[in-house]
Amino acid sequence: MKEVIKYFMDKKILLSPEIISEIEENYSDLIDEKNYDKIIVLTKELLDKNKEVNEDIKIDSAERRIKIIKSHNADSQKREVKDFVSHFKARYNKIKDILSNRQDLQDVISISKGIEKNNQNVSFIGLVFDKTPTKNGNISIKLEDPTGSIPVVVNPEKECFEIAKNIVLDEVIAVKGFMRNKTLFVNEIYFPDMPHTNELKKAEEEVYTIFISDIHIGNKVFLKDEFEKFLKWINLELGDDRQKNIAAKTKYLFIVGDLVDGVGIYPDQDLELNILDVRKQYDQLACYLSKIRSDINLIICPGNHDALRLSEPQPFLDKDMAKNIWALPNTFLVSNPAIVNIHSSDNFEGFNVLMYHGNSMHYFIDNVESLRLGNARDNASIASKFLLQKRHLAPTHGSNVYVPYKDDDPLVIDNIPDFFVLGEMHRPDSLTYNGTTIINCSCWQGKTPYQEKMGNNPLPSRVQIVNLKTREVSMINFGENDK
Ligand SMILES: [Fe+2]
Ligand SMILES: [Fe+2]
Repeated sequence: MKEVIKYFMDKKILLSPEIISEIEENYSDLIDEKNYDKIIVLTKELLDKNKEVNEDIKIDSAERRIKIIKSHNADSQKREVKDFVSHFKARYNKIKDILSNRQDLQDVISISKGIEKNNQNVSFIGLVFDKTPTKNGNISIKLEDPTGSIPVVVNPEKECFEIAKNIVLDEVIAVKGFMRNKTLFVNEIYFPDMPHTNELKKAEEEVYTIFISDIHIGNKVFLKDEFEKFLKWINLELGDDRQKNIAAKTKYLFIVGDLVDGVGIYPDQDLELNILDVRKQYDQLACYLSKIRSDINLIICPGNHDALRLSEPQPFLDKDMAKNIWALPNTFLVSNPAIVNIHSSDNFEGFNVLMYHGNSMHYFIDNVESLRLGNARDNASIASKFLLQKRHLAPTHGSNVYVPYKDDDPLVIDNIPDFFVLGEMHRPDSLTYNGTTIINCSCWQGKTPYQEKMGNNPLPSRVQIVNLKTREVSMINFGENDK
């Protein structure tokens, strides 16, 4: 018996008394060979859960395999006009680097040089300062780079006219065309976009990551029963064998903002709340999250309803405000946006997950014709893909509120994500675009008057699941009425 206890002790596993007699035989089979970096307690409940689902599942809870690649926590000190200038300069330079990598953009020159090249073909990279339709049906753009600005005209006869409709203010694009009288007549338009690939990075073993957002605890129509069902499933107490197998092999749970409903987010919100103290809303959430198996990593970013400044990047949740969430051993709190790498090992680089709550989405869905026509409010993945093509989470000034960083624009998508996960639209959707899987999360809140006003059409209580071995995306509905 001593030998059994010592064997586990050496691996930093403490045995709870009720199971000591049960694990005399083949005890080494119960756990992985490796040593854990943290003490865990093996209880009867934990042991039974693992036996129940699959004899082969081993307890490897201590190995977390999480790396926070980018999480912003800049202070919100007063900014000056010159900070905006340096912020946009940084955006221009970052996206110019992406565009300049393209084979067909090796001939780009500065605007100050190009403007003198009358009757010649010229290519520019610039920031869209202005865009207006003209009386004769052209699209007229003012493009800027650090050396100057130039009027750019896109004629409706040109093939690229449809592409030009998708150009938004303040984004950085490349154009090729013909110079005449200090104006560029455009033949081709390039967005920085994602690199073309048909290959998806895959893990060697079957392991799952799941995605949720917009829990909105504190609101009267928080879907408590449905959320509790989800918690039961993740703890292997609910679902058929296939669903339990997924739960057992889930290692990562991403929560993409709007954890609580907050207080004072919109006029008369208190009429819709049943928890009026935002700290108590977070405590309630901590209570729920503490029920989740501790071997599952919880990666959490804030959204516009959370108790933080609205300006992006929003820092991670306040250590005092959400102290019970901070206290959970398996949580990783990051900013909005953030990049988190999961599941890396000595011979696997892991998956990069770009988390963004999605505050800018409404602006583009309302203002870009192709997104409106594609009903992007109900199919948010097309709006998310639009942002990936811009390589920016909120390209237009006014599409979000943001902190202008000195010498940086943290909302540029300079790192190619394997997963781009968003909340805010309260409706699940997904799409694979080149090597990136886009996941728009569902919610845990019924339709409120506020959601109605936003024009959102929620489809709540869905959990999206990705099998990291196959990259297959699936969904479980914990709601009563499947539509
Ligand atoms: Fe929300
Ligand atoms: Fe939101």
